[in-house]
Amino acid sequence: MKIVGTVKEVREQVKEWKKQGLSVGFVPTMGYLHEGHKSLMDAARKGNDKVVVSIFVNPMQFGPTEDLATYPRDLDHDAALCESAGVDLIFHPEAEEMYEKDFCSFVDMTGLTEGLCGKTRPIHFRGVCTVVNKLFNITPDHAYFGQKDGQQLAVIKRMVRDLNMDIEIVGCPIIREEDGLAKSSRNTYLSKDERKAALILSKAVKLGEDMAKAGEKDTDKIVSEMIKLIETEPMAKIDYVQAVDAVSVKPVKEMTAPVLVAMAVYIGKTRLIDNFIYEG
Ligand code: PAF
Repeated sequence: MKIVGTVKEVREQVKEWKKQGLSVGFVPTMGYLHEGHKSLMDAARKGNDKVVVSIFVNPMQFGPTEDLATYPRDLDHDAALCESAGVDLIFHPEAEEMYEKDFCSFVDMTGLTEGLCGKTRPIHFRGVCTVVNKLFNITPDHAYFGQKDGQQLAVIKRMVRDLNMDIEIVGCPIIREEDGLAKSSRNTYLSKDERKAALILSKAVKLGEDMAKAGEKDTDKIVSEMIKLIETEPMAKIDYVQAVDAVSVKPVKEMTAPVLVAMAVYIGKTRLIDNFIYEG
């Protein structure tokens, strides 16, 4: 497995593979990799001859008061996990490699990016769309994203459709700890008590999912029961719990599939997200 830091090196390697007729699967990450990322690498490994993982904490998707400086980083651990997953190439650029001093071209989106996480993180999706676009221009074929960032997955799929990008987006299921907490690099911020309190997210997801499976069609009822449950946890502060169309990300009143029921909840200072998709 190679680790490279420049666009040129990735391009040359991918070009070489393409010349040999090999397919390339791509997993974009911000590092501090866990089992959730590993499941994306496994899917990429299964579907392609070669696998590229990018590890880049993208400054452009963090707001000025967010956790860019403290976002956890551990390249040795990440490299070992990639190696064990059979990854062929890690792209680990410095910020200067991705953004020249006079960088001024952005990819932005309206509509899908305005609600849910976009409300409290207004510049987030512009940063995500821009960096993912850049990464797709370097590493083609298939790209793998986790369903945990349900809005991000919808945004990326729409960007690829709208801009006629020649890449297939593969969504992969949420990977959870044994007790239900969705795996996230940000879980590392949680104290022991907060870690316990954080279980309220997956409990609320389960409650909503069970109601939907039992035939409840009214999204207001489902969301309000989920909110009631989250509010029983004193350490939890809700940012949002909302049901939206899983493709357009517009709020929906009725559980007409596919519906994304998504939440962001602060546990102490840590903002966690979770969701479920109702497929009917
Ligand atoms: O989901 C993430 O880790 C990031 O948003 C991504 C897609 C790697 C872009 O920086």
